[in-house]
Amino acid sequence: MVTKIAVFASGRGSNFREIYKNTRSGFIPAEISLLVSDNPRAGIIPFAEEHSIPVSIIQPKLFSSTQSFGTAILDVLTAEQIEYIVLAGYLKKIPENVVSAFNNRIINIHPALLPAFGGKGMYGKHVHQAVFEAGVKVSGITIHLVNEEYDSGPILLQRATDISHCETPEEIASTVLKLEHKALPEAVKLLLENDPEIDGNRVIIRKVHETN
Ligand code: GRF
Repeated sequence: MVTKIAVFASGRGSNFREIYKNTRSGFIPAEISLLVSDNPRAGIIPFAEEHSIPVSIIQPKLFSSTQSFGTAILDVLTAEQIEYIVLAGYLKKIPENVVSAFNNRIINIHPALLPAFGGKGMYGKHVHQAVFEAGVKVSGITIHLVNEEYDSGPILLQRATDISHCETPEEIASTVLKLEHKALPEAVKLLLENDPEIDGNRVIIRKVHETN
C-alpha cells in the first residue's frame, strides 16, 4: 500500500510543489494525500486543488485551546490515514498532541544551519536578515524531526551553501531556496526508507527497507 504523507504549508508552497513532483516521478515512495494550511489565502491551495489533493484549512484562532487545535489536525490526519507529516513553510507551532501521536514522523525544513539562526520568531525573511547581519559566509538548510520546541528536534539532514557573493538578505533567500528544493525531497525519501533511531539529539540512520 502506498505511504500517505501530509504536507503542511502556510504560503506560496514552492517546497510543496517540489515534493509533489518527486512523488509523481517515483523518487519519493509516497503520495501527498493532504495539504494542511492555517492560511485560507495560501498560494499553494489552488495548486493542490488542481492536482486533486485534499486540502484542510485549520486556523488555530478558531479554537479555544492548543489542544483542541491539535485534535482537529489529528482528526483529518486520521481520516486520510496519514503516516508522515512534512512541514514545508508552515508557520504555526505543531501542538503537543500531534507531536506525540506522530513521534519521529514529522519533519520540518528550516532555511539556515541550526542550531544558529533558529527559534521563535526566526522564520522566512527574518532568518535571512539575521544571517545577513551576522555576516556569515556560509548558510544552508536544516531538516529536523519535530519536537515540542521550535527548531530544536534531532537533525535528519543539513546542506551548506556559499553565500559570500550575496549582497542582500533576498539574495541569500533565493540561494538557500534552491538548496531547499533539492534537499527536502531527499530528506523525505531518507525518512520513509529508513527507521531513524534517535540517540539524544542525534539521528542514526540504519537502512531497514527499500521501498522501490
Ligand atoms: C522556505 O524558505 C522554508 O524553508 C521556510 O519558509 C519558506 C517557504 O517557502 N520555512 P515555500 O512556501 O515552500 O515556497
